Amino acid sequence: MKVLTRHVVEGESRTKTIAALQACLTDLVDLALQGKQAHWNVVGPNFRSVHLQLDEIIALVRDASDAVAERIVTLSDPADGRAATVAKNSRLEPYPEGLQSVSDTVTHIADRLMTAIQGLRDGIETVGDLDPISEDLLIAQASGLEKYLWMVQAQEG
Ligand SMILES: [Fe+2]
Repeated sequence: MKVLTRHVVEGESRTKTIAALQACLTDLVDLALQGKQAHWNVVGPNFRSVHLQLDEIIALVRDASDAVAERIVTLSDPADGRAATVAKNSRLEPYPEGLQSVSDTVTHIADRLMTAIQGLRDGIETVGDLDPISEDLLIAQASGLEKYLWMVQAQEG
């Protein structure tokens, strides 16, 4: 296994920052997968707008996961986005199986966005004193997800 030896953040600050970033990465990869599950299986009135909105959210979440993963590697550790790691460590509730009504889909996605946002906010707090660049990166991702949380939960009946 290759090792990157020049560290822009050193010591315990580095390991703690990477752990916080990795926890967020795991949630974000899961959120993108769950978003597709929701996109495929939503049924009912207003199907189309929720179906299409989910793909917008997935695009944003995938970009967020890419930014977080690449920050981990910038700090000279490998990013772990493997399915087995995500299944084991994601903090999101698993998505229910089967077809889901529009209203249930909106609630499921709002709940999971909230969990991922809370994870990002916890990460922001953790890395705040350790690495301001990682803090700034997590703030940017949280900002995008929070806007979508607004637009999703605004549709709840
Ligand atoms: Fe699609």
